[in-house]
Formats: sequence, C-alpha cells, structure tokens
Amino acid sequence: MDYFRIEGGRPLRGTVGVHGAKNSALPLLAATLLARGESVLRRCPDLADVWTALGILSCLGCRVARTGEDVVIDTAPLCGSAIPDGLMGRMRASVLFLGALLARTGEAQAGWPGGCALGDRPIDLHIRAFQALGATVLDRDGRLSCRSASLRGRRLYLPIPSVGATENAMLCACGAAGVTEICNAAREPEIEDLQGFLRAMGASVQGGGTDRVVIRGGLPLHPADYAVMPDRIVASTYLCAVAAAGGEGELTDVRPGDLTPVLAALEAAGCQVRREPTRIILQADRPLRGIGALTTGPWPAFPTDAQPLLAGALAGGTGETVIRETVFDRRFRYAEGLRAMGADLTVEGTTARLVGRPLHGAAVEAMDLRGGAALTIAALGAAGESRITGLSHIDRGYRRLEEDLSSLGAAIKRVRG
Ligand code: EPZ
Repeated sequence: MDYFRIEGGRPLRGTVGVHGAKNSALPLLAATLLARGESVLRRCPDLADVWTALGILSCLGCRVARTGEDVVIDTAPLCGSAIPDGLMGRMRASVLFLGALLARTGEAQAGWPGGCALGDRPIDLHIRAFQALGATVLDRDGRLSCRSASLRGRRLYLPIPSVGATENAMLCACGAAGVTEICNAAREPEIEDLQGFLRAMGASVQGGGTDRVVIRGGLPLHPADYAVMPDRIVASTYLCAVAAAGGEGELTDVRPGDLTPVLAALEAAGCQVRREPTRIILQADRPLRGIGALTTGPWPAFPTDAQPLLAGALAGGTGETVIRETVFDRRFRYAEGLRAMGADLTVEGTTARLVGRPLHGAAVEAMDLRGGAALTIAALGAAGESRITGLSHIDRGYRRLEEDLSSLGAAIKRVRG
C-alpha cells in the first residue's frame, strides 16, 4: 500500500503553480457532449477523477487524447447513452453526464453515482430538474433511466443552492427549447467557468455566479477551445500547508478573488498575505492563532472543501476555533487522524471544537479526499515523521500532491508499498 512519508516541523519556502480545477474540469468534460466534434480543454488536471470522466467519454464512443495538461475530446463518434456502473460508482460528478446526454441524445442510463462518503448525498434535485425540463426518470433496481422526446425550458427553483444540480440543470437546459431560469442557483466560481465554456460553444447563458442563471436552450452548439480555471481548493491546500509549517510560499497561476474566504481566515490566524493578479505570497510565523469561529456554507461563505484543510493547519497552532459544518454531515472524518497526531479536537454532530497545540508525527489513514489533504497539512507542521495511507482518496483531486509540496520545500515522499 502506497503511503506518504513526511518529516514535519520544518518551515516551507518556495514557489508552486496551481493546476486546473477538478471541480470545473468535470462539468466541462460533460459539457463537451453537447456539441459534435473536437473540443480542447486546456489546463485539464491529470488526476484520478478526470481519468474517470475521460473513461466515461470513451465508453460512450468519444475519442479522447491528452498532451500534457491539454485534453482533446472528439464527440463525433458518440454512440451510446449508458454509463457503466463501475465508472459511475467512482465519483459523484459522473451524474453530470446524465444532463449532458439528455440534452444531446434525449436519453441516458446509469447506476447511482459514488464519491467521497461525506454523509447522505442524494441526487433528488438533479432528477427533479430533468423532470421539470420534460424528461421521465425511472429507477429500476438501482439503475436510472432518463428519457425525453423533447425537452422544454422553464423556471426551476432549487431549495438548496446545489453546485452539481445547478450544473446539471444548465447542461440539460442547453438542449431544452425556450428559456430555462434556475432560481437559487449555486454561485461558486466553477459555475461561472461552466457558463464561460457553454458560451464559447455558442450557448446563451446569463447570470452564472449569481443566484439566477438563465439559459436560452435549443441553439446549435459547436466544439470549443477553453482553459479550465485554477483550482481554488488545491491553492487552499498549499496555503494551509505553508501556514501549518511556517515560512513563505508563493503560488502562481491562481485567482486570488476565488480564495477570498480562505485568505481572510488565514489572515485572522496571523498569516500575512500579498495578493497579485495571478499570484499569492503567504508568509506565516508559527504558531497560528485559533480564529474563534468558522462556519462553512455555499459561496461566498467559507468552502466546505477547505474546512478540513484549515483545521489541519490550525490544529498545531494555539487558541480555539469552533467549526460549524453546514454543507455535509460527515466532513470531520479526519478528526481521528488529527487526534493521533496529538490534536485537541472534539466533534459533536456537525460542530467541532479545536484547540491548537503542538502536534507530533503519527501513522494515519486518509478517509476521504480533503480529509487526506488535511492530515498531510497537519503532518507538515508536526514534529517528527508521519505516514499517511489511503492515497487513492488524495489522488482523486490532486495531481501528484507530493511533488507540488516538495516544490514548496516540504520533506514528503511517496513510498510505493
Ligand atoms: C460539489 O459537490 C463539489 N464536487 C464538492 O467537492 C463540494 O464539496 C460541493 O460541491 C460543495 O461545494 C464537485 O464539484 C465535483 P452540492 P456537489 O450538490 O455538487 C445536498 C471535493 O472535495 N444535495 O452543492 O455534490 C447535498 O447533500 C468535493 O472536491 C441534495 O440534498 O455538492 C449537500 O448537503 C467533495 N440533493 C448540499 O446539497 C441533491 O440533489 C450541497 O451539495 C444535491 C445536493
């Protein structure tokens, strides 16, 4: 079993570039299905969830080819509408292919999507959006079968501003004649990136990044050449790593505006941050200070994906932080690992109380993607050696995390076992 060996307690110093965003690349890859022909996605990160998405496209008959960070997807040979269960079960975002397939072919079949076990993760809002646009959706023995002779645009209201349901509704609405209005839409930066790609394909989409997205569907779409936005959660990971270990790190290829809540929290913890148009320089003196209270929520609140990362950094500092997680119920699965490193962390339901104190290295297991990154961050700030197993979770969302952390001066190695 592969593991990270980390020698912690050394300040970090260095520069690292941030790769394209997984959570944008996945909906964009689904969106390529909307037009016939060759689309190019630049800065498409080379990591496990993207391989799964490319696997789905291949199984549907599309041709995919990667050169470095660029991926070419030729959807002309599309010849299927059924997504194999094995690929569907690997990640939650597989569900986005249903909306795109419905729009392009009028049908889609798949099992239920998998993904990180962060609590109950229903897809009722996705299904309701398809139904509202005129599709019938049947669940037969755990397999979803979606079909529509003609999709029609209409007003949709999302009771929760779900990122995935907003994206799926946007994709499906591109194939629906007339106007679709998505009310209480998610406002995450990845929604604007999807809007940017859809527009580049010739779609009429307005309001991405606000709570009201309007799509005029049924237009003929064409393939497009588009660069994926930088990954704000990967950037948050590197920033928290420098904050945990102390020192100075420079991130390039970033959009500081996408990191506003995370940078504000790191500043409250005592870090100094310099923002430039595409660079961030973070300087941290140890120990970090607890920030009192932190509540996660949909954009522009503090992102749930960065919550474990910040906790991993603050665990080795001083002072108290009470974390309220409002998006997913099981986002504290990293707690046991942090406690094994000596953290003072108590969890009750969806609230955690963290009191910073010096950590020591330990052998711990990543239970999910961001939880694994949190343990890596804590290990960089902890005295002595740590071993982190469960790397398959981490590899879903980071392109060779250990190499990028090494560029920042971290003593981290992937040991093949
Ligand atoms: C996206 O997941 C991200 N994944 C997640 O990142 C991220 O944590 C999450 O948004 C919140 O920001 C991708 O973009 C691929 P949601 P998604 O639908 O779309 C409930 C990471 O670490 N809900 O906004 O699945 C749901 O249970 C990952 O990179 C329903 O009840 O999140 C949750 O409580 C993990 N019914 C809330 O909405 C539905 O049909 C928000 O989830 C859909 C969602």
